[in-house]
Amino acid sequence: MVALAATLRDEVLELKRQRRAVILAHNYQAPEIQDVADFVGDSLGLSQQAAKTDSEVIAFCGVHFMAETAKILNPGKTVIMPDLDAGCSLADSCNADALAAWRRRHPRHAVVSYINCSAGVKTLSDVICTSGNAVKIVQSIPADQPILFCPDQNLGQWVMQKTGRKMDLWPGSCYVHVQWTHDSIYKMKRDHPGALLVAHPECIGPVRQLADEVCSTEKMVKFCRENPAPAFIIATEVGMLHRLHKECPGKTFVPAATDNCRRNECRFMKLATLDKLRDCLQNLSNRIEVPRDICQRALRPIQRMLEVSAA
Ligand code: 13P
Ligand code: SF4
Repeated sequence: MVALAATLRDEVLELKRQRRAVILAHNYQAPEIQDVADFVGDSLGLSQQAAKTDSEVIAFCGVHFMAETAKILNPGKTVIMPDLDAGCSLADSCNADALAAWRRRHPRHAVVSYINCSAGVKTLSDVICTSGNAVKIVQSIPADQPILFCPDQNLGQWVMQKTGRKMDLWPGSCYVHVQWTHDSIYKMKRDHPGALLVAHPECIGPVRQLADEVCSTEKMVKFCRENPAPAFIIATEVGMLHRLHKECPGKTFVPAATDNCRRNECRFMKLATLDKLRDCLQNLSNRIEVPRDICQRALRPIQRMLEVSAA
């Protein structure tokens, strides 16, 4: 079993070399995928890497909207992913036609869309944000302009608290993060006294209120590395613990249990496997295609995000 896995890993690395590909992986990917990637990070880091890569082939190990964002940033390159069915419940919670109708009814609003949305929704957005830069992006909108924050209502509520800015919120959410409740987190804290609670802003308000830190997955690594506490309860998708263990040796990380499960996984993120990654590199299959006009219109709010983020 171990020898087989090593062979598969070698095959992936050899194909990556032959294809001159770059492998980008999200923090929620399985450990064996993270370990063959050139870059592992959050949505912001991944879009920044996609914007600057000079590889002709991008193998994206994450979910569809992430690979689609890489394609929008690189329309002339080949962007492939191990499994095209890796969607996102949050991205699915906002349909482009419904957003277009909302915009027609509210022409003065700036639309700030979380990157977890389709290319169609991006074309209707003034600026994109991620959990890593949402506060900064919202602060960049003129104070007298009303804002629709879309599609994650929990991240939107958190940004409202951080900025003091009132916004209209699209009623979307992530099926993974809303599974943590005040009670399930309260029990975790009771059972692990002395451990700090770190939660993703996609968690519901009563969970965020119990957290010592609320932040994007990339900032979780920095927070846990720099904080002197020896133990942390992590309320985000369980794949996150791989990087935390690697980059914060000697510290203890406990995945936050929900009422129903001890380890909360995103079923979409876990569709990528090493053998599917090998196959898509071998065949250059599972290509992401985005119509040219959609690419052009979706690029503008993504570029705006990258500019505001870098300022
Ligand atoms: P991050 O950008 O914080 O990694 O979050 C992405 C995501 O899909 C959270 O569910
Ligand atoms: Fe989408 Fe939630 Fe999975 Fe993140 S964890 S990719 S928001 S379904």
